[in-house]
Amino acid sequence: MTRLAGKSALITGAARGIGRSFAEAYVAEGAQVAIADIDMARAEASASALGPSAIAVRMDVTDQSSIDAAVEKTAETFGQIDILINNAALFTAAPITEIDRADYNRVFDINVGGCLFTMQSVARHMIERGVKGRIINMASQAGRRGEPLVAVYCATKAAVISLTQSAGLNLIEHGINVNAIAPGVVDGEHWDGVDAFFAKYENKAPGQKKREVAAGVPYGRMGRPEDLTGMAVFLASDDADYVVAQCYNVDGGQWMS
Ligand SMILES: NC(=O)c1ccc[n+]([C@@H]2O[C@H](COP(=O)([O-])OP(=O)(O)OC[C@H]3O[C@@H](n4cnc5c(N)ncnc54)[C@H](O)[C@@H]3O)[C@@H](O)[C@H]2O)c1
Repeated sequence: MTRLAGKSALITGAARGIGRSFAEAYVAEGAQVAIADIDMARAEASASALGPSAIAVRMDVTDQSSIDAAVEKTAETFGQIDILINNAALFTAAPITEIDRADYNRVFDINVGGCLFTMQSVARHMIERGVKGRIINMASQAGRRGEPLVAVYCATKAAVISLTQSAGLNLIEHGINVNAIAPGVVDGEHWDGVDAFFAKYENKAPGQKKREVAAGVPYGRMGRPEDLTGMAVFLASDDADYVVAQCYNVDGGQWMS
């Protein structure tokens, strides 16, 4: 399929996990992709595995000059940026009484500030060149409701949903569609970290939390990164032209809204 032929995309946090899977799917659909990550070794390995349509770009979403440099490098390499996926994020967990302010600041800076200011930098680029672009923000089912031990991460993902709504309404006048995807529980290195948090706070054996959440998914298993690629391709494609400021749950039936 070549639903994204001739398009170029910048995907943050794409060195591994869901973002890497998005990069692979976009290349398969004919796009050129910049794998933007703070982890350059893995970004380069992922880009070279995807062949000449992918490049690795150094990017720290908490640093404005790094964001702007990554946007410039991607635009210079591909001519312009048609699609942005704001995917980089960090998970954290602690009871309310133990939340640490430095950790709160760091996670908000990456998950919320990173999303907003990367969106701003790419939107400026798109508006200057008259690109009718697409922006996809990675939210989460965690942004749909609170969780007893996950207050900060849940709040960041609620903020991503809210930013998607405001930016979606603001940028559609320039022909830029902003939408979000809310995954449920997707297995991979991110969830290895989540499992370790719950092992600590709920005294569970390693792997136990994963088995419990998998049993709770109506579909019958945890998600895989490739379960999300269909929605990411659709939202970037011409078929999604009339889709504005929405957040789609892709979670095996865990949340309805
Ligand atoms: N895995 C899940 O169960 C799940 C569920 C819901 C939502 N999500 C969301 O989906 C997205 C991808 O999740 P994942 O499971 O692939 O995560 P992951 O932890 O496997 O990957 C995150 C990537 O972001 C990069 N990164 C971290 N800080 C960065 C920074 N400051 N600048 C640039 N890059 C940075 C990391 O190096 C890593 O490559 C995230 O937004 C996450 O919150 C994941």
